[in-house]
Amino acid sequence: MSTATTRTAVVTGASKGLGAGIALALAEAGHAVVVNYRSDAEGASRVVDQIRAAGGRAVAVAGDVSLPADVRALFEEARVTFGPVTILVNNAGIAAFAPLETITETDYRRQMDTNFWSVVLTTQALAAQEDVTDGAIVNVSTGGTYQHPAFASLYVATKSAMEAFTVISAKELGPRGIRVNAIAPGPSDTDGTRSSGFVGSDMEAASIAATPLGRSGRPDDYGSVVAFLTSDGARWVTGDVLLVSGGQR
Ligand SMILES: NC(=O)c1ccc[n+]([C@@H]2O[C@H](COP(=O)([O-])OP(=O)(O)OC[C@H]3O[C@@H](n4cnc5c(N)ncnc54)[C@H](OP(=O)(O)O)[C@@H]3O)[C@@H](O)[C@H]2O)c1
Repeated sequence: MSTATTRTAVVTGASKGLGAGIALALAEAGHAVVVNYRSDAEGASRVVDQIRAAGGRAVAVAGDVSLPADVRALFEEARVTFGPVTILVNNAGIAAFAPLETITETDYRRQMDTNFWSVVLTTQALAAQEDVTDGAIVNVSTGGTYQHPAFASLYVATKSAMEAFTVISAKELGPRGIRVNAIAPGPSDTDGTRSSGFVGSDMEAASIAATPLGRSGRPDDYGSVVAFLTSDGARWVTGDVLLVSGGQR
């Protein structure tokens, strides 16, 4: 484990996929990690076990981050277990693709609440900790905000809202020493992209062909970047959206 300053990090949606890779990397950087999940207790506990086996500190906390009461409970449990939360990674998200004429209000509420409203709630919860005088938030957007692919209108709109919120919250929280950035990942092999049918599809093949580095992303590709953005090495970086996509844009 690293000897860098230990902080309490909350990673939302860390039971699998990109969130799990980010949780492992933050633990490797020496932080105590709260592995949030919505329903996959087994996945979250695997991530916690992996961190502890490597000598790190982690705890799994269930909670739907689109619900104010769950977010309050998540931050309370994090604080009681490890101390004030100074690193927050807003990774929990749903990617559902559909032709625009088929989008329903239910689809809108589900994706907007999970991908964007959750970010408002968790950012407020971090900022509400009056004893936090420095911190780092990383919001996990999508490279889709560069490519604007057909059938992703609702999903990309939720992430575009997240990116705007990133830039503006960086302005409001900067005077308190809290930095806010986003990463925009490229298509990656995760449970989410497997269950949506993306992995193995023609769309995935086209996406890999359009990626200069010639492969899909892996969870650890993002973990290392988030570890940097939340480190003192990135102390002069805020309000930015970093494309992390193997060069696909
Ligand atoms: N994979 C890609 O190609 C890709 C590309 C660009 C951007 N992204 C973004 O990266 C993030 C992670 O994607 P992924 O592919 O790793 O997803 P994934 O494999 O589907 O995992 C999603 C994670 O989010 C959690 N989650 C979902 N809704 C939640 C809620 N309301 N409250 C708390 N946790 C919730 C899930 O928890 P449970 O399973 O426990 O319910 C799970 O841990 C998303 O924001 C996605 O938009 C992914």
